[in-house]
Amino acid sequence: MKFDQPATLNPIDRARVVGKPVDRIDGPLKVAGAAPYAYERHDVAPNPAYGWMIGSAIAKGTINSIDTTEAEAAPGVLAVLTHANAGALGKGNMNTARLLGGPDIQHYDQAVALVVAETFEQARDAAKLVRVDYTQGQGKFDLLVGVKTAQPPKSVQGSPADTSVGDFDGAFKSAAVKVDQTYTTPDQSHAMMEPHATTAAWAGDKLTVWTSNQMVTWAVKEMAKTLKIAPENVQVVSPYIGGGFGSKLFLRADALLAALGARAVGRPVKVALARPQIPNNTTHRPATIQRLRIGATKDGVIQAIGHDVWAGDLPGGDVESAGLQTRLLYAGKNRKTTHRLAELDLPEGNAMRAPGEAVGLLALEVAMDELAEACGVDPVELRIKNDIQFDPEAGPKRPFSSRKLIECLQQGAERFGWSKRNPKPGQVREGDFLIGMGVAAAFRNNMAMPSGARVAIDGKGRITVSTDMTDIGTGTYTIIAQTAAELLGVNVSDVTVKLGDSSFPASAGSGGQWGANSSTAGVYATCMTLRGMLAQKAGFNAEDALFEDGMIKAAGKAIPLRDAVGREGISVDDKIEFGDLTERYAQATFGAHFCEVAVDRFTGEVHVRRMGGAFAAGRILNPKTARSQVIGAMTMGVGAALMEELVVDKRFGYFVNHDMAEYHVPVHADIPEQDVLFLDELDDKSSPMKAKGVGELGICGAGAAVANAIYNATGVRLRDYPMTLDKVIGGLTNA
Ligand code: MOS
Repeated sequence: MKFDQPATLNPIDRARVVGKPVDRIDGPLKVAGAAPYAYERHDVAPNPAYGWMIGSAIAKGTINSIDTTEAEAAPGVLAVLTHANAGALGKGNMNTARLLGGPDIQHYDQAVALVVAETFEQARDAAKLVRVDYTQGQGKFDLLVGVKTAQPPKSVQGSPADTSVGDFDGAFKSAAVKVDQTYTTPDQSHAMMEPHATTAAWAGDKLTVWTSNQMVTWAVKEMAKTLKIAPENVQVVSPYIGGGFGSKLFLRADALLAALGARAVGRPVKVALARPQIPNNTTHRPATIQRLRIGATKDGVIQAIGHDVWAGDLPGGDVESAGLQTRLLYAGKNRKTTHRLAELDLPEGNAMRAPGEAVGLLALEVAMDELAEACGVDPVELRIKNDIQFDPEAGPKRPFSSRKLIECLQQGAERFGWSKRNPKPGQVREGDFLIGMGVAAAFRNNMAMPSGARVAIDGKGRITVSTDMTDIGTGTYTIIAQTAAELLGVNVSDVTVKLGDSSFPASAGSGGQWGANSSTAGVYATCMTLRGMLAQKAGFNAEDALFEDGMIKAAGKAIPLRDAVGREGISVDDKIEFGDLTERYAQATFGAHFCEVAVDRFTGEVHVRRMGGAFAAGRILNPKTARSQVIGAMTMGVGAALMEELVVDKRFGYFVNHDMAEYHVPVHADIPEQDVLFLDELDDKSSPMKAKGVGELGICGAGAAVANAIYNATGVRLRDYPMTLDKVIGGLTNA
């Protein structure tokens, strides 16, 4: 099915199953420990050997030699693989650095060897006996130095690096009220629960990897390219994933090394990265420096808005797209955005939950708070005042498909009790605590990706949906079952969903918050084809046939599905493809975050007391799974605001705090009540599901709401994330 015209009334609109808070159908398996994760595939890969990755001890330079003699003689060791004996490797398209380094080294902890042994402990022990002799090169590790020679990248997520409309410089200069501030965000780590892990096995020239990967189709292609084998000979299986946040969008070293190890020893091999290996070996969200300039009239109408972004990555890498939302979020006739890429020799930067917006809004939405104060306009009102219903760079010819930012701000403010906020900072005290409230807009682009599925009905009327789509903890199993149940007129319990296997039809995968809408749209397309076939078999006109109560009904007759199917069952493959509706319309999701903090006036410690958010993201396919996504993302926003930072050792070029003891993320005790409101919205331009995504929207702006609440509480305006107590306390004058 090609989706190239806005959707009209369709069977999803009946919303008997879709849109209901159905419990996660994978929930019982997860809590019982019965969902097999990648490292646990004893069932399908018996008698495995265990691999331990050795990462480079230098960030840049060359390996002169690797002495594996002692390691090879160690108990239980079966093989030690390095660039010298692993065989010729190609390079995939999606990673900037090679997954097995040497002789040249591109970043710290780049894999340089894999030790394979009978047990995990033997592999890890023997790894200490591998002697790598390096010549250390001169690396560039400091973003502040790198920005001096930073260059415009070729593109930013497919868009131009720079955009300009009207006369930004002139309008900013002559604006009555100006904000001109620079904000910094640090490198961040995904810190998902399940580490990167793979079990690999070969059968002849055919490779199967059970791995933890968000994008099964991409993984097949990348593995085939890297191993220089045919994609038909690679099967990737990833049915359960303990979180990804973008760290598992790409084939990573665990999967490649497990495949190489299994080939070398002729047995299945398991490789998991140890937690301390993850931040430097895998990708991270790159640090940014962002300058915001906003010029407005006295009453807060934006005349000029400019956003300049600097970020670093390895040579050949990409810039963090932190300026993109500023092209779309607020009105203003004179506009300018720029992105500059500094070449650094730190580990590879890449996508982390809402790449671009997540950090772009940490800057833009604090700048808006500063503008509100400068104009003496309420920050909610300021955002409403500068709303725009079309792409402000392209003009009215490109309207938003749907945009309820104003409603999110108004309804969110109402629910949160925003009217109780004292606009003057530092005024509200409770004992030793200073209390404040902050607001920020949420914005995340909506993307659509082609997605396929197979839908089968057996002779008993039981339905099975298979697609290589993944569930990274998001609820995919459940919303796909709901979609099929809705369209075929059965209960969710009549549907089995099989995910994450490359032998199934290729899907959109889980990325960029496009997964829910795109993958269910693929199931929609396939079910509609199946409905046509079934109606025909039943002797009905497909348009007239009603699918409900396990029956096909038309012309006063009702035939049970299983009778229409026949004893042999029926199976159909189809997919959704998207036309140019995302070009003709600006498509995005919107929201408003509200936060109340209490700041200890002696220690500067920030307690988040309440969070509330209102969100508009098209049809909410399942309010329970969607809410879980949003509160998880809001929590991650608190992490960004208050805790998360990979600390760069600028001498040696690595992230020092590479474990969960030192890389701080919020825990339950840090997160109080979170209130989530979804606005009623159907987006007929997004897909036949009329849905968009929420998995990333919830992080977008959340941290800025915390920052703005800190300011309202204390009068301390911080522009350097994370806002740890040492930074807060420096500004406190009323202790
Ligand atoms: Mo997302 S950062 O595309 O998993």
